[in-house]
Order: sequence, then structure tokens, then C-alpha cells
Amino acid sequence: MRYITFALAKGRLADKSLEILEKIGITCEEMKDKDSRKLIFVNEDLKLKFFLSKATDVPTYVEYGAADIGVVGKDTILEAGRNLYEVLDFEIGKCRMCVAGPESARKYLSNGELIRVATKYPNIAKDYFYNQKHQTVEIIKLNGSIELAPIVGLSEVIVDIVETGSTLKENGLKVLEEICPLSARMVVNQVSMKMEQERIQEIIKMLKSAGLAK
Ligand code: PRP
Repeated sequence: MRYITFALAKGRLADKSLEILEKIGITCEEMKDKDSRKLIFVNEDLKLKFFLSKATDVPTYVEYGAADIGVVGKDTILEAGRNLYEVLDFEIGKCRMCVAGPESARKYLSNGELIRVATKYPNIAKDYFYNQKHQTVEIIKLNGSIELAPIVGLSEVIVDIVETGSTLKENGLKVLEEICPLSARMVVNQVSMKMEQERIQEIIKMLKSAGLAK
């Protein structure tokens, strides 16, 4: 039997994903040692391997088949635009992808003006403005603290993740439009889905019937 490899997005999501997998008996004791510098962990009995990677790299590992299964946020999946099967919603890390800005910027979204949009998610922003709203905009890629952009005059609005909404509120910004809901998803390599259909379907079935994923 060959190994089935899981790629998990490093951080909060990885811990929560592992807790969910553990509930259906998919465990990896080695991985719980926070001081370990090991990059890959093995469960010999179940013939499973696990590794942690930067969230944005999870879809890449899965598309190329270096991992059979990945657990990562829907934001990362959408932004990566890779060929993967999205098979389950873990319903953790729930938040929303939104267009946000000061109330005074709302008018630019209805009159189709050529505005600047700052974001860590240029592909999601492009798809939303060009394909859904049919509004030509200038997308400015940033790497974090996106809320700064409209405050310092870099952009009129932002496209960013909103969880509690407190970052926006504390900076005098508002959700102006909602793009889509987000949460952690399980993705599968397209070839693995065929070659390891039985084992992968069994994992999906167990997670669903235990009410751990949709
Ligand atoms: C995310 C997101 C918002 C914030 C939203 O940032 O980009 O800034 O969380 O959360 P809230 O609605 O609960 O306030 P993250 O902490 O990931 O850091 P970043 O600035 O690097 O994007």
C-alpha cells in the first residue's frame, strides 16, 4: 500500500484540521511535538504522511501530486486557481471575502468609476470586479495590513478577509460589498482521486457521517 500524503496549512488551521482528522482515527502523534524541526511526519500503521507548509503553497503541492490531500482556506484556493477537487468544507476558520473602505467610497462601487483596489488577493479582486461587476479597476497587490491602504490614500477600497470586523471598525472602515463566504476546505489531487479512490472516499465518508465536514 502506498502512502497517502496530507499537506496542511501552517498555523491555527493546521491544529484545528488535525483535531478534526483525529476524531476519525487519522492521527499523527509525532506532529504534536511543537519543538520538533521535522518537516514530514509519518503514521506507519495507517500508511499516511503529513507535512505543514505555508498556506499559499498547499494548492501547489496538491496540484502537482506532492500531496494527495490538502486542508487550506477557501481564500487561498480561489486565489491560487489551481486544478484541484474541493471535496469537503471543514466549516472552521469561517470568515468573508469583502470589498471594504470608508463609507464615502461606496459611491465608486455603484457608478463604475476607475478606482484603485488594494489587496493580498489580486486574482479574487480581478475576478470580482472584472467578471462579476464589470467594473474596470486598478489592482494594487499588498502583502498584509491591507486596511492601511485607504487610510493613507493608496487606494479607494480594499478586498480583504473580514472575520469579526473589528480591524475595519477600529480604522473607520466598513464592509461595502460581500464577495463570498470562506472556511477551511479539503482539496484532493485529481489523479490521486482516481488512483486512491477507495481510501480517499472512505476518509470523506467518515468525516461526513461523523458530522465533522460538509
Ligand atoms: C486578516 C485580514 C484582516 C483581519 C480581519 O489579517 O487581512 O486584516 O484578519 O479580522 P477581523 O475582521 O476579525 O478584524 P491577518 O491577521 O491575517 O494579517 P494580515 O494583515 O497579514 O493580512
